[in-house]
Amino acid sequence: MISRRGFILGTVGVGTAVVAGGGLLKAAENGVFSAGDGDAFSAWDAPLEGMQGIAAAGVLAANSHNTQPWKLRVGDGTIDVLGDNERLMGAADPRLRELHLSLGCVIENMAVAAAAQGRTTGVEFVRGGDHFARLTFAHGETDASYAALAEQIPLRRTNRGAYDVKRAPKPATLETLAACAGDGVGVRWLSSAGERDEFSALTVKATEVHVNDAAMQRDSHAWYRMKWSEVEQHKDGITIDGAAVGLIGTTMLKMFPPTSDAFDEGWTKVTRETHCATAPLFGLLVAGAADDRSAWVTAGRVYQRMQLEATRLGIAMHPLSQALAVRDRDLADGKRNEFADALDAYAGTGEVVLAFRLGYPRADVPPSPRRPVGAVSAQRG
Ligand SMILES: Cc1cc2nc3c(=O)[nH]c(=O)nc-3n(C[C@H](O)[C@H](O)[C@H](O)COP(=O)(O)O)c2cc1C
Repeated sequence: MISRRGFILGTVGVGTAVVAGGGLLKAAENGVFSAGDGDAFSAWDAPLEGMQGIAAAGVLAANSHNTQPWKLRVGDGTIDVLGDNERLMGAADPRLRELHLSLGCVIENMAVAAAAQGRTTGVEFVRGGDHFARLTFAHGETDASYAALAEQIPLRRTNRGAYDVKRAPKPATLETLAACAGDGVGVRWLSSAGERDEFSALTVKATEVHVNDAAMQRDSHAWYRMKWSEVEQHKDGITIDGAAVGLIGTTMLKMFPPTSDAFDEGWTKVTRETHCATAPLFGLLVAGAADDRSAWVTAGRVYQRMQLEATRLGIAMHPLSQALAVRDRDLADGKRNEFADALDAYAGTGEVVLAFRLGYPRADVPPSPRRPVGAVSAQRG
């Protein structure tokens, strides 16, 4: 029998069920009328001015599973970025690749916000301990284009909905996005039907492997916030609104929050039928050398910058990390698997460090929850 979630993610023919009065009350309680509203989302309205504003831009960065694995210490012309060990993803990120990418994203958002204020950013990495990097901001000459990019910081979203498969970004647009790469991280587009089919098949297969790995699922599910009260309490994680399954699907999920099994079944289905099937294009960020943590941070910076550019151009981006996560699970144990081989074939001598789809979205999505700067402040060490 098809599970509730599997049914819901299909969303076809469920309209009549939604009008069930009691269920709607439950859905209202679970935030169906509150998407993007309230304390858990106030960080998106923070002014991006001064040093506090630079930090406020940082917390709006893309980050894996919305774990927000950072603490920030705002000083006079400096911001220290600390990793937060309480917010690691365990078996779902065994090489800490996604952690480093996420910290790269937060650094880039702060550098862009600073540049829009006419400040240059110096980054000094700290080896060992929780203190990850010190950013030093100095008044200096910055490119005027940063203002337009900084305006995108509060508007950027990961859009997991359907994209317009018939409208691929034009080559000139892809060139603009590719110009965000550099410093040892390149981008490879998968745009032909053959390339898209191959990468889709790899991603769907990896999703199935992920779903059947109890440890990976446990450590992923720890960050799913299926109840509105959890969203409000934690201000982090992946939410029902973030799944972008449309009004009917969202309402149904809020009426009947899915069990873990139902969620997993729905994840494979939506990966196959929406994420991959409606992607006009995939992008891979490729680091020049394998297993290079500083390249992972750079890749995070590249991804963040690219997503800001894409937002400016009306293009949505959505990482699809399943093949990389399953590759990493075995690499962390010193073993290679078919996902390592397939990804290496794309990367040549380097390593695929992030995969994503991009395109023109069919609908906008609300913001994801965020802990504001005050909630992520690190004590002076
Ligand atoms: C390194 C990295 C990996 C990610 N992998 C995935 C993924 O596999 N699937 C997905 O839906 N989102 C993925 N995301 C997007 C995050 O879940 C998203 O940034 C986070 O939930 C916050 O939402 P926002 O980007 O809309 O602010 C990834 C983001 C980063 C930085």
